[in-house]
Amino acid sequence: MAPRPIAVVLGTRPELIKLAGLVRHLGPRALLVHTGQHYSPEMAGDFQDELQLPEPAVQLAVGGTGRAVQIGSALIALDGVLADHQPAAVVVQGDTNAALSGALAANAREVPLVHVEAGLRSDDRRMPEEHNRVVVDHLADLACAATAQNRTRLLEEGIPDARIAVTGNPVVGAVQRLLPDPEARIELLRRHGVARESFVLSTIHRPENTDDPDQLAAVLHDLAALELPVVFPIHPRTQARAEAFGLERELDKLRVIGPLGYRDFLGLAAEAALLVSDSGGVQEEVSVLKRPLLVVRRSTERPEAIGTFAQLLQPGPALLAAAVRVLDDPAAEHARLESIPSPFGDETADAQIVAGIDALLAG
Ligand code: UD1
Ligand code: UDP
Repeated sequence: MAPRPIAVVLGTRPELIKLAGLVRHLGPRALLVHTGQHYSPEMAGDFQDELQLPEPAVQLAVGGTGRAVQIGSALIALDGVLADHQPAAVVVQGDTNAALSGALAANAREVPLVHVEAGLRSDDRRMPEEHNRVVVDHLADLACAATAQNRTRLLEEGIPDARIAVTGNPVVGAVQRLLPDPEARIELLRRHGVARESFVLSTIHRPENTDDPDQLAAVLHDLAALELPVVFPIHPRTQARAEAFGLERELDKLRVIGPLGYRDFLGLAAEAALLVSDSGGVQEEVSVLKRPLLVVRRSTERPEAIGTFAQLLQPGPALLAAAVRVLDDPAAEHARLESIPSPFGDETADAQIVAGIDALLAG
């Protein structure tokens, strides 16, 4: 009899990136379930191809709706998926609505739940992700913490040590596997019309920056004020909000392009003088690429990179002054970061997570 599958439930770009290696490690045991939270080709299907993920065994379509509808409709559909496929475990990653739906569905069907990237906390209750990650961590039967700090936080919240494994974050291996080689990066720079260490790469998509017109205007204004060209692969949420707020003229001052494939994004990040972003994953990736990052947010659930690779800032004088300091001598800044190890583990995370799943199922 074939072994029961391991359902891997995901729905957004970062989940595809961070779970692709694990799906490969699981091989035929993996049952890929995509909730459709992200659905535009450049946020979903294109990544599946690039990351060589199999077609999802189940493809839902909950995207473009509000948070409650996304979570509720995915939960109802996932309940049927778990009943049909009888998985031995459900794996979710991070703090998205898709991850919460997968966790609740597993809990309702009493299927063991594995949470990859457990123990992150911003302590900012205004972020939907903070609520998602707290709930998922407390439902998980195996909490895969990326760092010792993440493990400590889970213990402080009363989660027993037996339910926690410190595995590192799979993104470290993803960057190492998918970063284009130097020759391909030269071609990439040529294609984007920028020179090595002579441009800024920026991504902005968090509600705290996109959903308030004044805040979004302030962020775009600061980016436009930087002394180097700013390549801005725009998230669909940001595009929609900028248009709704009449900020197209601010966008025109940046080099706005559509969302990039993962290899191209990594290649540009590795060659940029500076990154400016509110992304979670980018805070981890710069620690592997050894590039400086300004994190435009109120708070971060990834303090491990702050003070070395990253600075946490708001738009305005602080952001502009920090950018000037880096852009004054980007090569010196890059040399400073070169010898600092990533706090997010190494390329063994996927294998450690699979070992944790096997131990959970054997126990
Ligand atoms: C979601 C996650 C966030 C993660 C981000 C990764 C939650 C609560 N938020 O935020 O943690 O950092 O994904 O990028 O789960 N849209 C499209 N096409 C798409 C996807 C989105 O047009 O493929 C537009 C739609 O207008 C949609 C809006 O973006 O309503 C927001 O999408 P949603 O998935 O709800 O949240 P994100 O901001 O992408
Ligand atoms: N990314 C990408 N193309 C882009 C922008 C980002 O491949 O145009 C990658 C980035 O390298 C990171 C992930 O997408 O791995 C982060 O996604 P996002 O910032 O949307 O989500 P978060 O990490 O904040 O949840």
